Amino acid sequence: VSRPRVFSAMQPTADSLHLGNYLGALRQWVALQEDHDAIYSVVDLHALTVSPDPAVLRHRSRLTAAQYLAAGVDPARSLLFLQSHVAQHTQLAWILSCLTGFGEASRMTQFKDKAARQGSEGASVGLFTYPILMAADILLYDTALVPVGEDQRQHLELARDLAQRLNTRVGREVVTVPEASIVRATAKIYDLAEPTAKMSKSGHASGLIELLDDPKVIAKRIRSAVTDADTVIRFDREAKPGVSNLLTIHSALSGTSVADLEAEFAGKMYGHLKVAVADVVVETLAPLRERVTELMAAPDELDAILADGADRARTIAAGTLARVYDAVGL
Ligand code: ADP
Ligand code: NA
Repeated sequence: VSRPRVFSAMQPTADSLHLGNYLGALRQWVALQEDHDAIYSVVDLHALTVSPDPAVLRHRSRLTAAQYLAAGVDPARSLLFLQSHVAQHTQLAWILSCLTGFGEASRMTQFKDKAARQGSEGASVGLFTYPILMAADILLYDTALVPVGEDQRQHLELARDLAQRLNTRVGREVVTVPEASIVRATAKIYDLAEPTAKMSKSGHASGLIELLDDPKVIAKRIRSAVTDADTVIRFDREAKPGVSNLLTIHSALSGTSVADLEAEFAGKMYGHLKVAVADVVVETLAPLRERVTELMAAPDELDAILADGADRARTIAAGTLARVYDAVGL
C-alpha cells in the first residue's frame, strides 16, 4: 500500500524561520514523514513576488533548506528541493492560469491584503497569480494532503477547484484533487510584543523568536514579552493573551500539558514563567542552530541533497505534466 502523498513549502523571504513556522509547520512536516510520502520545497519562485536582492534570495533559499534539514526533514525518506530547480512548476502554472477566471483570482484575499500594503502600482502580476503557482506546486505531485495554516485555506480551495475543473473538462482524472483539510491541529503562536497578532516575519521584530537567533537575544525577547497587569499564571486567550502564548510555547516544546504548567506555576510570578519558557526554547533551538551552521559551512552536502531532491521531484513532475499536456491538447 502506498502512503498518502504530502506536499508543503515555505518561501525563503527571511534568513531565519521563526517559532511559529517551526511549531505550526516544520515540526508537523517532520512527524508526517513517518507515515506519509512527503515532498517539501523551498519556493524561491514565490519569493520573487517581493523583489528580493538576488544574492540575498540565493542565500536565503539554501539557508531555509538547511533549517528544514536541521529540524528533522530527512532526505533519505522525504523529498527536499528548491522550486526553481524543477521547471515543471512554471509550466503547469501557465496551463492552470488559463483555467482560472480573472474574477476568481481577484477574490483571493491574501493578494488584496498584500497589494494594499505594496500599493496597487507596486504589486506585480506575479503576486496576483501567486495562488496559481501554488496550485501547480501541489497538483504536480498528485498531492493528497497539504499541511498548511488556516491563512492558506483559500489558496488550497483554488488548487482543489482547478484540479476538479481540469478533470471535469477532460472527463477523467488527470490530476489528484488534494484534500482541503489542514491535516493536524497545530499550535498557533502569537507575537511576543502584541500577543493578539500571530507571530509573523511581517510583524514586530521584538515579537519574533527566530530559530537562528542568538540565545541571549531569544531570552531577552521572552523576558520582555507583553503580559498583563494581573499576576496569575492561567491560560485564558481572551483575558490573558500574553501569558497564554507563553504557556502554549512551553507546552508545545516541553510536552507538558498547559494544565500541568498552570499547577507548576501556581503562586509564582510571570518572571519565573518567562525564564522557564526561555530555557525550553533555547534548549530546543541550540542543536538546530548548530546543525544549520554545519550545513552552511559544508555547502557540498547541502547542494548534493538539493540536487538529488530536484532530480527525483523532476521525474514525478514530468510525468504529471505529460498527462496534463496530453489532456489539454499539447
Ligand atoms: P509568516 O507569517 O511569518 O510570513 P508564512 O506565512 O510564510 O509565515 O508561513 C509559513 C508556514 O508557517 C505556514 O504553514 C504557516 O501556517 C506557518 N505559520 C506561520 N506563522 C505561524 C504562527 N504564528 N503560528 C503557527 N504557524 C505559523
Ligand atoms: Na505570511
